[in-house]
Amino acid sequence: MVRQDIQNIVILTGAGISAESGIATFRTKGAVSYWETTDENGVPILHRVEDVCTPEALARNPALVHRFYDERRAKLATVSPNPAHEALAALDAAWPGELLIVTQNVDDLHERAGAKRLIHMHGELQSALCAACGKAVPWTQALPPGTVCTGCGQPRLRPDIVFFGEMPYQMDVIDEALRRADLFVSIGTSGAVYPAAGFVQTARHAGARTLELNLDPSAGSDYFDETRLGPASLLVPHLVRHLLE
Ligand code: APR
Repeated sequence: MVRQDIQNIVILTGAGISAESGIATFRTKGAVSYWETTDENGVPILHRVEDVCTPEALARNPALVHRFYDERRAKLATVSPNPAHEALAALDAAWPGELLIVTQNVDDLHERAGAKRLIHMHGELQSALCAACGKAVPWTQALPPGTVCTGCGQPRLRPDIVFFGEMPYQMDVIDEALRRADLFVSIGTSGAVYPAAGFVQTARHAGARTLELNLDPSAGSDYFDETRLGPASLLVPHLVRHLLE
């Protein structure tokens, strides 16, 4: 990778960049995909995607869905950005060209590390969305079902999370950045969930060099010019040092 040829960078991050901060990644066992949380005694609880991350689940059992996101929101107070988040924030601060960090993560570790040029394409734990009027408001506490929206007065506030089957945020901005990118880097994502899994192909077709940093080869590894395997906390600072040299 020749540093001088790069002006515009798009970085996609997934659950793997926050794993070393102590936030569990999404996992698949056979045909079942789930998240793991722990109860107050540290006993693991498995949450199937169908039970907590679809519009149908929210309609069927709002108490369960809201509680799942309340637990994840509360967990944020116990975790901190790791060297990978910090390195990307340093790159964001210093990079003179265009740069966009697109995260699939709903935690706030990129912004806590200081990243500014950031899009949360799958929503944010610390935001609540009114299902009636569409207004989003910052939210740091528990969010019980039936909470009233301050905008329209309807008791319809829900977690501001893009569920499976819903449209990710700011796809137009992301698509334009991908088409202008000279370098596309994917960090800590399994490449299993679209549309993010297709970003590498958009960037590639537009002429970008493509680089994957992941613990294991991902579902989309073949689409990248280069894959580097290892923990994000080592690979990302190494890449950023090279880019800022
Ligand atoms: N460093 C780098 N990569 C890591 C690390 C680490 N320390 N730990 C795990 N990984 C990698 C795993 O090898 C895996 O490929 O991170 C990836 C995590 O994959 P997923 O948990 O599937 O996360 P992600 O790709 O972000 O999921 C995409 O699916 O769960 C839904 O909507 C949710 O945004 C999420 C989307």
